[in-house]
Parts: sequence; structure tokens; C-alpha cells
Amino acid sequence: QSNAMWGGRFTKQPDELVEAFGASIAFDQRLAFYDIAGSKAHIRMLAKQQVVTEQEAQMIVEGLDSIREEIEAGTFVWEQSLEDVHMNIEHHLIERIGAVGGKLHTGRSRNDQVALDMHLFALEEVDVLVTLVTSLQTALCDCAERNFDVIIPGYTHLQRAQPVLFAHHLLAYVWMLARDRERLFGVRKRADLMPLGAGALAGTTFPIDRTFVASELGFTALYENSMDAVSDRDYVIEMLATLSVVMMHLSRLAEEIILWSSAEFGFLELDDAYTTGSSMMPQKKNPDMAELVRGKTGRVYGHLLGMLTTCKGLPLTYNKDMQEDKEGLFDAVDTVKTALRIFTGMIETLTVRTEAVESALRQDFSAATDVADLLVRKGVPFREAHEIVGNMVRYCIETKKPLAELSKMEIQRFTPLLDEQELVALTPQALVAARNCRGGTAPEAVRKQLQWARERLELR
Ligand code: ARG
Repeated sequence: QSNAMWGGRFTKQPDELVEAFGASIAFDQRLAFYDIAGSKAHIRMLAKQQVVTEQEAQMIVEGLDSIREEIEAGTFVWEQSLEDVHMNIEHHLIERIGAVGGKLHTGRSRNDQVALDMHLFALEEVDVLVTLVTSLQTALCDCAERNFDVIIPGYTHLQRAQPVLFAHHLLAYVWMLARDRERLFGVRKRADLMPLGAGALAGTTFPIDRTFVASELGFTALYENSMDAVSDRDYVIEMLATLSVVMMHLSRLAEEIILWSSAEFGFLELDDAYTTGSSMMPQKKNPDMAELVRGKTGRVYGHLLGMLTTCKGLPLTYNKDMQEDKEGLFDAVDTVKTALRIFTGMIETLTVRTEAVESALRQDFSAATDVADLLVRKGVPFREAHEIVGNMVRYCIETKKPLAELSKMEIQRFTPLLDEQELVALTPQALVAARNCRGGTAPEAVRKQLQWARERLELR
């Protein structure tokens, strides 16, 4: 006896290894509810178009509903010999309601069916991802607000550069995530295309109503080319690309959290709930979660590269290669959702160690640019001012004192244009407050920034 779905053409069962290698049921059962929703819309449309009777459609809808309940209850038995989610459900439907169940697949192919399921999956998950990104942004805004007075060294080349508000630093991530949200909206727009009706590749001879199916399922647009409909995996790739960028952003933040919670920096203390100990070293408190998010970034990039490579050179239309779109996307979505949730909690609970931050600020020369700017305001060309202050800094390093502790006499060795009071006045607070341009780190500018960032969170 051969396969129930295409037995006609065959005289033999597939080889055991072939069955296991070709089956996708282990992972695509995750699409079951989308598959059932799609099938219900399809059969209702066939009834409306009088391709099947209302009564037949009703039987099929009820059969599908009862299968849905069994899947929810965990009693539905998935069989590898039935290859994938589509055939498992259809097979059980026919078993349950009889031959009439076989009318469900009229005018449809698994090619447009699986495309539909994946679109529904992408649309639903994009919305969840948008919500989670927004929660992380909110946590970052709240943390910025709680620690609004904290000034930290800002870095370039991981060398102390100029002081900035800690809030300003956190808000940089809020804006990165704002662009990620926009990218997700873009994915949603391009996933919002209804493929059903494409059949295997060329359309169908039945008088179907694709617009009806689209609106039943909440789509606002349809594929206008049946070959494109069953071949398109762009939105999968775009979603993986967007998730890769989200992970890249989280990974940068992870790296900073890891550095900042080291003894060498000591700027942050992570909540115990987001750290782990060592099995050997009793003193350890490791930022494992941040490290794992940084590590899992590689895995999400891998899925993107995998899918790009899978699709490269595929002739139109459906090819079995395309079955490879699922595990990578599912895993990327799960990984990013968990990473976002963990980061939200980690940011909500971290504390800033202000003594460590203040002592770091005392030791740096982050006022140097502003000293040069003082000279520039007194008519010295910037390049000369740069040179003068460079010499002053070198002297300070040699004599182990901060700029603010130079005496009048010492300053005179470099320039007659500055006095010690001017240097003392260049506190981190003053340096930060002076950068009050739009987008700058002055408290006034950051307040506005915070407000704008929060307003953006309302956009859907
Ligand atoms: N399991 C298949 C996939 O995920 C469904 C479509 C199969 N179509 C086919 N003609 N073999 O791609």
C-alpha cells in the first residue's frame, strides 16, 4: 500500500530514511492553527462560490475545529509518515468526517497552503516582536529617568573621551530599537500578501474569490502573480535580517553591560536574578545572560545567511529546498523574543554604582576638548589650542594630577590665556550642561529627547 495523499502514481512506500529526511512534521506542527484558519477560510470561500455545498463546508469546518481542540488538548497524534502539518491535518479530517473531507483541498496546493501558513506566522510574530521591542525601550527610558543625574565617561575607541549623561547613553539604544521597530513594520507590510489561490504555481480552474479569503484572514493585499506567491521567501529573509539587526543592537548593549559590571569598570550592578555564580569560585557573579545574548547573535545571523543561501539560485517556483525556511525563522523568532524579555528585566533591575562612575570621571582628561575650546574663544586657532592642551595633558600624566589641579604657574608654562579657576570650573556637570544642542548630552536636551523617544513608542 502506498501513500494516502498521492498513492495513485506510486507502487511503493518511500524508503525509511527518505521519509524521515523529507518530513517536516517535527517542526511545522507549530503552524497547525494557521493551517486550520487558512483551511476554514478556503472552504468557506469554496462554498460561497458554490464549488462545494454549504453543508459540505460546514462538515469540514466542524471537523477542523475538532482537530484544533485535540491539538490544543495535546491529544492529536502527529505522524511522520504523513510528512507535514498539512497532510497530517487533512488525513485526520478525512478519517473523521469521511470522503467529504477530501473536498477541502479543491483548488489548493500545499505550495500555496504552506506559503499562507508562513505568512500568518510572520504577521503574528512581528506584532509580538514589536510589543517586546517597545517594552525594552520603555525599560531603557525608565532606567534613564531613574538615573537622570548620573554622568559617565563617554568613550571612543574604548578610551575615555567626553562625559555624557548615563541617560543619553541609554537613549542611544532606544533610538536604535526605534529603527528596529520601523523595520518590523516594514516586514509586516511585505508579509501582508495573501498567497492562496496560486495553487501549485499557475492558479486554479475553479471560480475562486481570493479577496474574500484575504479579508477572512485579515490580509489587506494579495499576490498578483501565482508563481511569485509560491516562490516568495523575501519576507522570511527580511524578517531574519531585521532580527539580526535587533540582535546586533542587543549584543552591543550586552557587551557594555558585561564590561560595566566588571571590577575594572564597576559602573553597574546587575540584579542577582540576571546573573549566575561559579561552581568553583565563590566570589563570582557572572553576567551570563548578557553573554548568551551576545553569543546567540551569531546563531540568528546564521539563520539569515542560511536562508539567503538556500534561496540563491532556486528556479521558480516551489522547490523542496524551501522547506528549510521554517526551523531558522522559528528559532530566530524564539531567540529574539527571549533575548528581548531577558534584557527588559535586566535593565529594569540594574543599579548604577555612582561612586565608581564618579571616580572614573575624576581620573580622566575628558575636559581637554573644552579647555581647547576656551582657548579658541580667546582667539587661538583650534589646531594650536589642540597642541597646547595636548602638552598640558602630557604634563598632568607625568606629574599624576588632573587638569583641575594645575596651579596658575604651571598653566603659564603652556599658555598665558588661561587661569586655574577656568579649569576648575570644567566639572563633568559643566561639560555635560554645555552640550545643549539638539541631540546633545546636556540635561535639558536629554529631557526633550526622552520625551520624544517616549512619544515614538506610541506609534503602531
Ligand atoms: N512541508 C512542505 C514545506 O514546508 C510543504 C509544501 C510541500 N509541497 C510540495 N510540493 N512538496 O515546504
